[in-house]
Amino acid sequence: MSRIHDALKRAEQERATSMGGHVETTLAPPEVQPVSMPPLEQRVASVPAMAAGFTYETLLARCPQTNWTPDPRTMLFFQDDENRIGAEAFRTLRSRLYQIREKMPLKRLMVTSALPKEGKSFVTANLGQVMVRQHGRRALIIDADLRSPGMHRHLGAPQTPGLSDYLLGECDEFSVLQRGPMENLFFLPAGRLASSASELLTNGRLKLLLQRVEPMFDWIIMDTPPVIPVADSTLLANFCDGVLMVVRSNVTPSDLARRAREEFQDKLLLGVILNGAPSGRLERSKYYYGEAVSSHA
Ligand SMILES: Nc1ncnc2c1ncn2[C@@H]1O[C@H](COP(=O)(O)OP(=O)(O)OP(=O)(O)O)[C@@H](O)[C@H]1O
Ligand SMILES: [Mg+2]
Repeated sequence: MSRIHDALKRAEQERATSMGGHVETTLAPPEVQPVSMPPLEQRVASVPAMAAGFTYETLLARCPQTNWTPDPRTMLFFQDDENRIGAEAFRTLRSRLYQIREKMPLKRLMVTSALPKEGKSFVTANLGQVMVRQHGRRALIIDADLRSPGMHRHLGAPQTPGLSDYLLGECDEFSVLQRGPMENLFFLPAGRLASSASELLTNGRLKLLLQRVEPMFDWIIMDTPPVIPVADSTLLANFCDGVLMVVRSNVTPSDLARRAREEFQDKLLLGVILNGAPSGRLERSKYYYGEAVSSHA
């Protein structure tokens, strides 16, 4: 985990400099493989996805296209411009994830951070988009932040019905999944605000949902609440193969980033994403962009 330590250290040092609009990835290779999932609640019996009729064809047939208006300032892949500033960093992140996947089972990812407003939703949304830019790859973005959902705003998509409605047993899978304008990219919004988020997330239905939708996607990427104020992300990690930790350069206090990181077992933590890295360093780095920096990654 020394690379993660280095990334946290760098974030601390960069607090002294001005904030830019970049994402830099520092993924640590997994130290333990394969991933052994911690025990999950056993209240819901395992349901084989295919037996329940959950095929991609059924999904396409039953999930009509939803009207999304993605935020053009932060959603990097909805337009045809392949060279948006920041796009290359997400391609780098994608290839590092595929490298890790060669060594361990990796499909369910979770994006989290220590505090609010560090870029969790920004990273989750763009990671989902860059995944489906590869031919035939399918991705599902889940807004699992039931207390303060924000993904629907980034995507310009309806917030309801969604995960909370599903967890309350009021909707089935097909009625909460949305298909947007980008081929193969699906979205499960948070749904209506839930007062008992932790209880809902562990009532057994999330496990069922993931089992059912998993065979239809190459990647499932969960946007989650910040780690320090609430326990939801720690609970959600039990449903994931790997955790990506966002650190906002120049913003996240390093001691809180470390505390957040300690919530997750080493083997689950895939790496740190340094969001909003100062422009100077990246301007020097042709590897990333080779062009001027804007206020958005
Ligand atoms: N690299 C970046 N450059 C510029 N703006 C960014 C960057 N990353 C995030 N932002 C902006 O910062 C704000 C917070 O980002 P985001 O919503 O992704 O944070 P979050 O961690 O999901 O917050 P919350 O904990 O409230 O859900 C948003 O307005 C987003 O557009
Ligand atoms: Mg968010």
